[in-house]
Amino acid sequence: MDISKASALVTGGAGGLGEATVRQLAKAGTAVVIADLNDERGKELETELGGSVRYVRTDVLDDDSVNAALAVANELAPLRIVVNAHGGGAGASRVVGRDGEPASFEQFQWYVNLFLNGTFNVLRLGAAAMARNEADDSGRGVIVNTASIAAFEGQIGQTAYSAAKGGVVGLTLPAARDLTKLGIRVMAIAPGTFFTPAFQMEREEAEKHWGSTVPFPNRMGSPSEYAALVQHIAENDYLNGEVIRIDGALRFQPK
Ligand SMILES: NC(=O)c1ccc[n+]([C@@H]2O[C@H](COP(=O)([O-])OP(=O)(O)OC[C@H]3O[C@@H](n4cnc5c(N)ncnc54)[C@H](O)[C@@H]3O)[C@@H](O)[C@H]2O)c1
Repeated sequence: MDISKASALVTGGAGGLGEATVRQLAKAGTAVVIADLNDERGKELETELGGSVRYVRTDVLDDDSVNAALAVANELAPLRIVVNAHGGGAGASRVVGRDGEPASFEQFQWYVNLFLNGTFNVLRLGAAAMARNEADDSGRGVIVNTASIAAFEGQIGQTAYSAAKGGVVGLTLPAARDLTKLGIRVMAIAPGTFFTPAFQMEREEAEKHWGSTVPFPNRMGSPSEYAALVQHIAENDYLNGEVIRIDGALRFQPK
C-alpha cells in the first residue's frame, strides 16, 4: 500500500503507542486523525504536527463519534488505515481475593468493554467506511488492532485484561476472512512492555521493574518500535489475518 496517498484513524492517538503511530504515519505522508478522549494532548499534537493531522474527540464505544472521526479522515484522503491503540486501566484482581471475596464483575466487564468491544466497534465501523471507497492495487486498506502478550500468558490478577486481549486475538482471522471480498486486511500486534504514560511512573523505575525481565534487548520497548511495525503492516499487502508479537522474547511469568 502506498500510505502517502491514504488517511489513517488512530484510536488512543494521544496516548503512548498511539502517539508514536500518529508521528510515524504523519512522517510517511499519511493524513492522520487522532481519535482520542484526551482533548488537551490531542490538540497539542495536532498543533505540533500540523499538515494533515487532525484531532477529533472520539469515544471508541460511541458510534456517532467514531463515524464522525472516520468521516474527517476520509475527507483528508481515502481512508485506508485504522489502528486501534486506545487503552486504560481499572486495576487487577484475583478470581478469588485474599479474604475469599469474588473478583469484581464490573471490573471484568470494564476491560472487555473498552478493549474488546471498543476494538470491534471501531473495526466494524472503520471497515464499513473503507468499503465505500474505491479499491486500488493493494485493495481497500488494513485494520491493525492492539492485543498484548497478556492474551497468551496473562499474569496473576489479569483475567479481565487477558480475556479482552484474547478476544482481540481471536477475532483477527475471522475478521480478515469476513473482509476478504472487500480487500480489507486485519492484523493484530501483541506488544510486550513498552514505556508509555500507561505505566504512570518514571522511566527508570519502569525499566527496573519491567525492562529487566526482557531477554533481548534487555529493556522496555520504545513506542517508536511499535509504530514502525504498524507502518510495515500497512505497507506490506501480504500480511493478513495474523497476530505479531513484539516483545524482545519476553514471556510473562505468573507474577
Ligand atoms: N504499553 C504497553 O506496554 C502495552 C503492552 C501491551 C499492550 N498494550 C496496549 O496498547 C494500547 C495502548 O497502550 P498505551 O500504553 O499506549 O496506553 P496509554 O494509556 O498511553 O494511551 C491510551 C490512550 O487511549 C485513550 N482512550 C481511553 N479510552 C478511550 C476511548 N473510550 N476512546 C478513545 N480513546 C480512549 C486515552 O485517552 C489515551 O490517550 C492498549 O490497548 C494497551 O492495552 C500496551
